[in-house]
Amino acid sequence: MEQAPIATRSASVELNQLVKKFPSTDDGEDFVAVVHLNLQVKSGEMVTLLGPSGCGKTTTLRMLAGFEFPTSGSVLVGDKDFSKVAPNKRDIGMVFQSYALFPHLTVYENISYGLNIKKVNKSEVERRTNTVLETMHLEKLKNRSPSQLSGGQQQRVALARAIVTEPRVLLFDEPLSNLDAKLREYMRDELRSIQQRLGITSLYVTHDQTEAMAISDKVVIMNQGKLQQADTPYNIYLRPRNHFVADFMGKADFVPATVKNKNGDQMILTMMEREVAINHETGFPTEKGQTVDCVVRPEFWKIDEQGKFSGVIRKTTYFGNSVEYEVEVNGILLTIMDYEHMNNGIKHEGDEVGLHLKEESVSVLEKNDEGV
Ligand SMILES: Nc1ncnc2c1ncn2[C@@H]1O[C@H](COP(=O)(O)OP(=O)(O)OP(=O)(O)O)[C@@H](O)[C@H]1O
Ligand SMILES: [Mg+2]
Repeated sequence: MEQAPIATRSASVELNQLVKKFPSTDDGEDFVAVVHLNLQVKSGEMVTLLGPSGCGKTTTLRMLAGFEFPTSGSVLVGDKDFSKVAPNKRDIGMVFQSYALFPHLTVYENISYGLNIKKVNKSEVERRTNTVLETMHLEKLKNRSPSQLSGGQQQRVALARAIVTEPRVLLFDEPLSNLDAKLREYMRDELRSIQQRLGITSLYVTHDQTEAMAISDKVVIMNQGKLQQADTPYNIYLRPRNHFVADFMGKADFVPATVKNKNGDQMILTMMEREVAINHETGFPTEKGQTVDCVVRPEFWKIDEQGKFSGVIRKTTYFGNSVEYEVEVNGILLTIMDYEHMNNGIKHEGDEVGLHLKEESVSVLEKNDEGV
């Protein structure tokens, strides 16, 4: 049977209780950059590590690539413990923010470089390089040097160079951050479609929330070296597990509420003197009378005369496709996005508005959860 042209060897990845400490430079305590991180990535999945600067994303990737060894814990690729295996023995491809192309080599030579190092025979090098050139739409550019390419084209060469060796896992560290907004979006979609077509297990690092949501099967939110939530983009956005995740993934108001009634996953809350029904499990135990925080995003609201809430506009910001309002409801200032301002008309400071809440979108957090 003929072998598929590229990437048939994808493997699962497992991080178990991974810890990375860096020795202190000023005789103080060691700095812990990654704290007991557990993560499972299925074969062919695209998982994104997302979090603020310094939260340990790159350090985690470097431990996977073998550029950094864990202080404790293990890295498994397939079922094999790779924790102490040298980088060049791992069969892992990496694409960096700086493309790190060889400036004195042509596109073709840059891409075939890894195969030549591996002493793949000449006809196989040609076949695989040409296949990847075609996959990445780079045939016409193959004789150029990197300096004769645009940023997006250089990024494609960097990706081509990473996939030509048929790695078992691909790692990306902010690969698009040097590109302008439009190209970034285009490359993002292209990258995702190539990753899916080839079925390569991929770990991707970014601090751009939209990028993470758009390309991932699973998003892993990190803060200060700790995993906060690993989940589908949908759940990360609509079912955040703590305040940090809710706040990091876009605008959210935390509105205090009290549990009025409970019946299995169904719960009635009192929020701003009105009753709100929640119909999903909360991820932490709740009891009648308990105070919680409701995560309410600006687009959960609809301006509606019949709505059960009412408020007074305190500030109006016009964005063209939407209008953002700051509205005071029961003494609490909320942000509300109106995408139907063409029908509703634009409201102004001091106007009173009725508000409907999409209650099924609201999620519930434990007060003072451990999100750091
Ligand atoms: N070799 C090192 N020695 C000491 N501290 C380090 C070393 N490498 C990283 N750190 C520290 O570990 C923490 C995590 O760094 P890391 O590069 O993993 O962050 P990051 O999440 O990738 O951030 P960014 O989004 O800014 O790239 C940072 O506080 C950093 O200063
Ligand atoms: Mg980094």
